[in-house]
Amino acid sequence: MSLQIKSFEEYQSEYKRSVEQPEEFWASIADHFFWKRKWNKVLNWNFEEPNIKWFEGAKLNITENCLDRHIYANGDKPAIIWEPNDPNEAHRILSYKQLLQKVEQFANVLKNNNIKKGDRVCIYLPMVPELVIAVLACARIGAIHSVVFGGFSARSIADRIVDAECKLIVTSDGSYRGNKTIGLKNIVDDALMQCDTVEKVIVLTRTRTPVSMIKGRDVWWEDEIKKVETQGNPACPAEEMDAEDTLFILYTSGSTGKPKGVVHTCGGYMVYTGYTFMNTFQYQPNDVFFCTADIGWITGHSYIVYGPLSQGATSLMFEGIPTFPDASRYWDIVDKFKVNIIYTSPTALRSLMAFGDEFVDKNDLSSLRVLGSVGEPINEEAWNWFNEKVGKKNCPVVDTYWQTENGGHLITSLAGVTPEKASYAMFPMPGIQPALMDENGKEIEGNDVTGNLCIKFPWPGMLRTTWGDHDRCRQTYFSTYKDMYFTGDGCYRSPEGYYKITGRVDDVLNVSGHRIGTAEVENAINMHADVVESAIVGYPHPVKGQGIYAYVIANHHTDAEATRKDIMETVSRIIGPIAKPDIIQFVNDLPKTRSGKIMRRILRKIAEGDISNLGDTSTLQDPTVVEGIIQGAEGLK
Ligand code: PRX
Repeated sequence: MSLQIKSFEEYQSEYKRSVEQPEEFWASIADHFFWKRKWNKVLNWNFEEPNIKWFEGAKLNITENCLDRHIYANGDKPAIIWEPNDPNEAHRILSYKQLLQKVEQFANVLKNNNIKKGDRVCIYLPMVPELVIAVLACARIGAIHSVVFGGFSARSIADRIVDAECKLIVTSDGSYRGNKTIGLKNIVDDALMQCDTVEKVIVLTRTRTPVSMIKGRDVWWEDEIKKVETQGNPACPAEEMDAEDTLFILYTSGSTGKPKGVVHTCGGYMVYTGYTFMNTFQYQPNDVFFCTADIGWITGHSYIVYGPLSQGATSLMFEGIPTFPDASRYWDIVDKFKVNIIYTSPTALRSLMAFGDEFVDKNDLSSLRVLGSVGEPINEEAWNWFNEKVGKKNCPVVDTYWQTENGGHLITSLAGVTPEKASYAMFPMPGIQPALMDENGKEIEGNDVTGNLCIKFPWPGMLRTTWGDHDRCRQTYFSTYKDMYFTGDGCYRSPEGYYKITGRVDDVLNVSGHRIGTAEVENAINMHADVVESAIVGYPHPVKGQGIYAYVIANHHTDAEATRKDIMETVSRIIGPIAKPDIIQFVNDLPKTRSGKIMRRILRKIAEGDISNLGDTSTLQDPTVVEGIIQGAEGLK
């Protein structure tokens, strides 16, 4: 039996089977993978603690599934196609055989640098093949990787390193993004001044940006590889892992506090990413799959690295940005490598749309068969443009809804197999049991209803804990509704039973598909010496989906424009450029309830420019504050 569902009827029957007999269902899917030893029990769970265990007792190594098992029949098949930032630089193709060899080599480098099973390794690299190699090398020896997106600041890296107590960091001298060069190693040096768990830094050469190498701590990737080569045996046997051993940590923002380390484990994550990859995209054996995400985010982990490789697919990774050298770059890549499936974000689509159709029209896109979207709700206009201009109305569009915590797709159509509708995520994956909840904690049954989206039953790819703080995991995801995983998103179920995600219902923003916590941005702004207090809300932004609107009380700002720039710089330094506010409004006061809580509802309305219905303001300490803010907001956008 194949892993792939081939018809809507089959989807319906598989879905039913997954709900009625979840253990049998997932065991039959897991049978498509290579286990060193099979499980004793498919599932053990409760959502109270929570305690979730899939495939207990099973032994595996995910890299044997992603590499070794394809070598015999498909060793020369491209595993990774890499397109550099600069189209004039040569692209690279790594076959499965070559990728395995490089992963084993680098796994030996890690061992030579004292990394053992269970140790945490931070990876801060540009989108180059060595990023995939480093990730898989960790998995090969059972080290836990924590990839940090290349756009995060020194401070953000340091926070993540300290939280996970990383022993080693892999980075590069620099990275290319469009016509910019960013000195990654210099950023790492700043980060390491703020933490002391890191013993070794491995530095890959990419940009020839001058770097300082600290004796005893910093080593070059290339030198370390040479050492392994001269040591003789280049092979590195795959460490035997329990299904529930941690595979990686990935930090993500929530509504409160610092980002938390979402923990994914080896067995369930492997099964879920492989299964969803094959089904959502309906991957065919010789397809070229192009996911435009960065491996610094979950989309890259699951759908550039683990999902495609566990299925022996060809995964295309791109170092650069969609608008360099011009707005046809994605389509140039599709044409150049005859890409069959492209998986991208609404933000990228909206920004490319704005450049005009000529950038899409000049390329031959006839190789495309499936289009995918991820990261934020896709508006109808972007959906239609994707469908008409890119897909020539000839390619199914899958809008995949999921989160870092989920490992893989939760709600999506399956390309060409289940129906699709503009701006709807459509149907739950087999194994996913959605529930829409009202504010009293009751499930809302039936169709044509809206509620808070929860999932009632575990699935193999879900998070198991948040690193170092299990209670935070319980509180964040499992305490709002009893015996449910709460996504934090609102959702509408149409009369036909189609699901449409309506956006976050908490204080988490989604800016260009990046998750940003309002509290985090506020904390960063408040670190500026002139700032007394601040409040962040989101507002609709034509390209980014949501923009960041900051209301700031500043001590003195003789030159408001300069203070604004300084605050932007502060946020960039503390979090990273992705969290910079789009609008800063200086205010004298913030609307607070008598108990001192900021009434964000009002601030949101003002930021949206919708002041006709501000709701009840009588509970405010000082209702006149609102009028002043409304006046100040005029002309800011
Ligand atoms: O609000 C939802 C939105 O992105 C959030 C998850 O962000 P992150 O963990 O960074 O993962 C992004 C990529 C998987 C969700 O809570 N989101 C993601 N995909 C969609 C979406 N909203 C609507 N439609 C989607 N397809």
